[in-house]
Amino acid sequence: MYEREVRMKILFETERLYLREILPTDDESMFEMDSDAEVYKFLGRKPIRNINESKKMIESIRDQYKRIGIGRWAIVEKESDRFIGWTGFKFEKENQNGQRNFYNLKFRLLRKYWGKGYITEATKAAIHYAFTELEIPEIYSMTLLSNLKSQRVLDKLGLQLVGEFKFQGDDITWYKKINNTD
Ligand SMILES: CC(C)(COP(=O)(O)OP(=O)(O)OC[C@H]1O[C@@H](n2cnc3c(N)ncnc32)[C@H](O)[C@@H]1OP(=O)(O)O)[C@@H](O)C(=O)NCCC(=O)NCCS
Repeated sequence: MYEREVRMKILFETERLYLREILPTDDESMFEMDSDAEVYKFLGRKPIRNINESKKMIESIRDQYKRIGIGRWAIVEKESDRFIGWTGFKFEKENQNGQRNFYNLKFRLLRKYWGKGYITEATKAAIHYAFTELEIPEIYSMTLLSNLKSQRVLDKLGLQLVGEFKFQGDDITWYKKINNTD
């Protein structure tokens, strides 16, 4: 039953991974990831300390699925059938670096799955899905200037560094990719 329920929600897959909606049952894995200080080292804020914060985050992600049909999607490793993190888009209404109402590419993995090239594999498919199925015109992404690994991932995904700005005292990189898949 669970297997069937999850499989019904598969959105797209890659060689080693599949992506599906983030579900309320992902709360423990999300908490493991978001309470890890190493994961938060380059996110500019403190890791969370209570699983209720993970539950709230899942609700807010699922709210974007319902309201605008987009969001951050769970990455599942085919080999283990485990949730390993997420990638995808948050629709940002608030002004950031002079831009509002934009699709912000974000990603995060549980630490034990780092160093396998999973994030590039999953996010490449997520961008393709967003551009071809959802017909999003352009995407943006940002990282702390110190987050060199994420910048390397964005470079590999074909986003371009188009600027830098300051946010709450931090230096932030500003990346962009235009949909020219027509
Ligand atoms: C960002 C994240 C998803 C990357 O996943 P990962 O599995 O660690 O990434 P990879 O090991 O595939 O490394 C990606 C690339 O960065 C390179 N890299 C690794 N460490 C690096 C460093 N310190 N400086 C520069 N490049 C680095 C890798 O060599 C690889 O490039 P390559 O394929 O050309 O060799 C993961 O580290 C994570 O979840 N971090 C915490 C959350 C986060 O920072 N999210 C992004 C916010 S903008």
